Amino acid sequence: MFTDVLNALNWRYATKRMNGQSIPQATIDRIVEAARLAPSSYGLQPYTLLVIEDPELRAKVQQQAAQQPQLSEGSHLLVFATWTTLDEHHVDEFIALIANEREIPVSELNDYSSAIKGTLETLGDTAAKQQWAARQAYIALGLTLTAAALEGVDATPMEGFDPKELDRLLGLPEKNLNSVVIAALGYRDETRDDTAGQAKVRRPLAQFRQLLA
Ligand SMILES: Cc1cc2nc3c(=O)[nH]c(=O)nc-3n(C[C@H](O)[C@H](O)[C@H](O)COP(=O)(O)O)c2cc1C
Repeated sequence: MFTDVLNALNWRYATKRMNGQSIPQATIDRIVEAARLAPSSYGLQPYTLLVIEDPELRAKVQQQAAQQPQLSEGSHLLVFATWTTLDEHHVDEFIALIANEREIPVSELNDYSSAIKGTLETLGDTAAKQQWAARQAYIALGLTLTAAALEGVDATPMEGFDPKELDRLLGLPEKNLNSVVIAALGYRDETRDDTAGQAKVRRPLAQFRQLLA
């Protein structure tokens, strides 16, 4: 729908009311692919993207998210969930993936593997690793919002939910996952959304950007 990224970003807003229209599968696939292509530290991608279309499940999620209407009025819900534990076997799996994709022996990646494992150790405890993983997940969230806007799809990023309850609802502990941020995807209902058409508020460039000599 948009070819210019700034036009798309000016068009998008955190939509409060959606009209229930379904997003075509091919469009969802493109948005998810943008998330998959997000860069991450070392390329490890220490999170999983859950895609929920089922209206009944989205209605249940809504109950854990302050009844925000976008969750049931949208078409899809994306849950960015970090891996609860992050240890050496995750690194080994990742190294095996690189070796396979690039058709090189694993041994060529020994230094890279050690560097990643060293970083994980430096990060410290499980909570610190989860914070680190969450930072990676938020990059994917940003690309998701941008890709959705370029596709003419509305997307509301949300932290306004109870992560523990959402995790329980989705069975995430059993999957070694925990939710960090979600995004409701759909199409705006301008007739019911009071925030539709409001001027976008961002700090002026002169305050936002500092030019260092
Ligand atoms: C991490 C994050 C969490 C957010 N959580 C919510 C939320 O729970 N509900 C909501 O309606 N908007 C939420 N927002 C939307 C912001 O309020 C919105 O992006 C901001 O006010 C700027 O407005 P705009 O995106 O419409 O331009 C969230 C945004 C981000 C980035």
